[in-house]
Amino acid sequence: DKYAFGMIGLGVMGRSLLLNMADHGFAVAGHDKDAGKVDSLNQEGSHLKVKGFLDVKEFIQNLKTPRAIMMLVPAGKPVDSVIEELSPLLDKGDILIDGGNSHFTDTNRRVGELEAKGLHFFGMGVSGGEEGARRGPSMMPGGDKDAYAVMQPIFEAIAAKVDGEPCVTYIGPGASGHFVKMVHNGIEYGIMQLLAETYEIMKNGLGMDNDAMQKVFAEWNAGRLQSFLMEITAEIFTYKEKGSDHLLLDDIKDEARAKGTGKWTSQVAMDLQAPSPVIDTAVAMRDLSKYKDMRVKAAEKYKSSQESTLQGDQAELLQSLEQAFYFSMIVTYAQGMFLLTNASIEYKYDLKLDEIAKIWRGGCIIRSLFLNDIYNAYQNDKSLAHLLLDDNVQNLVKEVLPGARKIVSAATAAGIAAPGYAAALSYFDAFRSARMPSNLTQAQRDFFGAHTYELIGKEGVFHTQWVINKMAGGN
Ligand code: 6PG
Repeated sequence: DKYAFGMIGLGVMGRSLLLNMADHGFAVAGHDKDAGKVDSLNQEGSHLKVKGFLDVKEFIQNLKTPRAIMMLVPAGKPVDSVIEELSPLLDKGDILIDGGNSHFTDTNRRVGELEAKGLHFFGMGVSGGEEGARRGPSMMPGGDKDAYAVMQPIFEAIAAKVDGEPCVTYIGPGASGHFVKMVHNGIEYGIMQLLAETYEIMKNGLGMDNDAMQKVFAEWNAGRLQSFLMEITAEIFTYKEKGSDHLLLDDIKDEARAKGTGKWTSQVAMDLQAPSPVIDTAVAMRDLSKYKDMRVKAAEKYKSSQESTLQGDQAELLQSLEQAFYFSMIVTYAQGMFLLTNASIEYKYDLKLDEIAKIWRGGCIIRSLFLNDIYNAYQNDKSLAHLLLDDNVQNLVKEVLPGARKIVSAATAAGIAAPGYAAALSYFDAFRSARMPSNLTQAQRDFFGAHTYELIGKEGVFHTQWVINKMAGGN
């Protein structure tokens, strides 16, 4: 009997997803060049209809036609190598899915290349890490709609469920699936940065020990801040290695790594002029963390005699911190959603933001209680210009804004870096400015570069000979 689905790349994600499919009764096959990975799939799946093949031709021959194959290999060159090796072995009408974190421009190119060969190709974001892949991920498929329709029953079966509904939906044409997954990761970076700052404020600003921080994260996770990232943070604050008397967390180097999806989000956000400063800040802080030696030297040079404790009542400050987190998390999601709005127009993705919020409520890394509010906002108004303009969100924001102001100013005064919180608040204050100071920027541009400006209440563009002498080097 032939297999209904094939997976190329039996790393943690590929293997887990395949076993998830087998759990749901699908007969599935896997291929990897690493014999160890093929063996471990065969062992783990010995009681299921799943088989690993070391030989790619044998793998292909054992798939039902038209074939449905997913690649879960590292983004970039490995994806092209697999496609190159695979395409001569495939037949017209076969479906090829890229389930990795590919850059959406690569996906665009591959859509064109593979369509020309008569293959159905689609790019699909898969979120949820190992556990998600094994028990129910959130999936963001985009591209060939007919191919998606063929795959839909399998994907809906294996996806995470919220209120009985699967966390997968057809996202849109072209590379939209990978684009939406990239923005998901950008939001993930932003929220992780906010959590890191929260840790810093509690530890150094409020002098809390690990147990106390654990309690707060767990408490918050039981309330409106409920989210997967909050939940795992609370859990990290309980984890000790066998026989150890202290948290593993305290042994981990303070240098963050990144595979690039957050940076891509910021790069694209700038290309599309969709400001996302919380995400930008998160990328910048991961990068800054790498310069450990430099930071150690600077710490010595700029040692301050000033206390780094936050001024105020501890219980009140914690309440403000909870508000500040809620506020900044809302702003982070809002920036991500606005980027999606702009991309949808620019790339003609026709994204359904309500549906996207809905499939992010389960399975993925940024799942949270607040996604219900995002879902409702875009349900109420499918062409909502910005999440912060939704009435319900407006009420939530107004309620927690004082906490955000208090924390940003207290942290700043104490010399504790809280750039994510500060970026969220400053973005918000600029966003709610009917008048920004950008008239000065325009005047300056015209002054030194004759870049022209526009006038209030008057059509056209204008240029002025400002003070000539200044530009001629005089004073
Ligand atoms: C997910 C994750 C997953 C991965 C990212 C982030 O949605 O399951 O986002 O895709 O963790 O690649 O990785 P970095 O932090 O290494 O960039």
